[in-house]
Amino acid sequence: MLNDIKTVCTITGQIRRRRKLCKFLFFIEIQHNDQTPNSQIFFRSDDDSLDDESFQDSYRSCRPGQVVQVEVGEPHDPTEQKGKSYKVWQCNKPVVVVAPYTDREPFVQDPPLSSTKPDVTQVIELANGQKVQKSDLVCKYWVNKNPCERGERCLFQHPVGEEFEKARIQWLEEREKNRKIATHNPEDPHKSKKPHGLRAIIFAEWVRTTFKDVLEEGLINYNNSTLESKSVVLDVAGGKGEISYVLGRGFGIPSTVIEPVKRKLPNYWFTRLRRLMYRFETGTMEQPDWKSKDIQIDLMSWPCNVTPTYLHTLLDDQFLIDYADLVSTVSLFIGLHSDQATIPIVDAALKAGKAFAVVPCCVFSHDNRTRRLKSGELVTTTEQQIQYICEKDTNGRGQIKTAYLDFEGKNVVVYWIPSQKKEEEF
Ligand SMILES: C[S@@+](CC[C@H](N)C(=O)[O-])C[C@H]1O[C@@H](n2cnc3c(N)ncnc32)[C@H](O)[C@@H]1O
Repeated sequence: MLNDIKTVCTITGQIRRRRKLCKFLFFIEIQHNDQTPNSQIFFRSDDDSLDDESFQDSYRSCRPGQVVQVEVGEPHDPTEQKGKSYKVWQCNKPVVVVAPYTDREPFVQDPPLSSTKPDVTQVIELANGQKVQKSDLVCKYWVNKNPCERGERCLFQHPVGEEFEKARIQWLEEREKNRKIATHNPEDPHKSKKPHGLRAIIFAEWVRTTFKDVLEEGLINYNNSTLESKSVVLDVAGGKGEISYVLGRGFGIPSTVIEPVKRKLPNYWFTRLRRLMYRFETGTMEQPDWKSKDIQIDLMSWPCNVTPTYLHTLLDDQFLIDYADLVSTVSLFIGLHSDQATIPIVDAALKAGKAFAVVPCCVFSHDNRTRRLKSGELVTTTEQQIQYICEKDTNGRGQIKTAYLDFEGKNVVVYWIPSQKKEEEF
């Protein structure tokens, strides 16, 4: 039973600003058509006034610039109004879009209602509690190359030239540090992770060692198969095909890239990949002297001669019918940050009883409302998507597991190595 909000009035007006504070709370600031002063309207699911689905629907209906009609009431949490000079409302009814924003130029949002009073406080308190003069700090809009709405009235610094470059480097470093703190996961054993750009080679190496037996058996089947269309690995949503290149030309494992978008593979892409492979082979992640004659000779060839195959199509039910021969020969399905293909990879592999390894990233929950955890929760985050995969039925053929890969960004791999069913279970 939802925790309803009693409607006090209906507001019609233009959304001047929208801000999502966290996964379950956002607000809009609205300019009323009837000229009453602008107000703020909260939408939240953490107090059970909205369920996850209606919360997402409301968010999508509240695009800045559109004119909407909203039934509002007093916020469940009365402290929301405390200390604010404007009216704060809460809404848990469907938002009616009266007029969408159709201008070709993107809508420029208003500054927050809370900042319309002149900014007179000279001192700011940092997250660590330290108090500093605003004039000692750089403006976060300016350093991020965005326009600062306060312009000359801004109390923070607006450096130019060399000073700007220095401030920006410092700001980027600070942001990276804060990002690491915010995304820190105590369960992740990799404390000082490799750059995101090395993810394909790290994943390919992890695949080679984790699925050693699966790949060895797959290679035997591949060599024995008389089918024209065959492979050992299906690298789904493979982009340019970096993983398949490393698997094939680095480790000798035949792989097929399933990727609807045909990407250009310029020479510098091969050079970069070969150099990465070299650093990997020689165990040095430091940059060697690429101009050295010996290294240049080494780089002229790859360790193996197996080139990946590309199929420019989507992995979907039709693919499994059209390419049934190919699918029957593969031993492993993989997908690194495979977007909308992640769940189809898992489902296709489970159905075919083949091993899989996916590294989930984006979830696309709006297009996949039927994806729910056993608890009934809608799958909206990467963590929930990982759990959703782990909750899948393997038909008694072993557990779906997770591991952390040693690179920055989304690095949890979800994988399955099908075990033989026990005799009596057949
Ligand atoms: C974020 S990219 C990842 C590319 C590559 N794996 C990497 O890590 O660099 C996601 C890719 O998924 C592809 N994709 C999305 N849905 C797909 C589907 N159903 N089947 C195959 N590829 C798909 C997109 O075209 C896109 O290239």
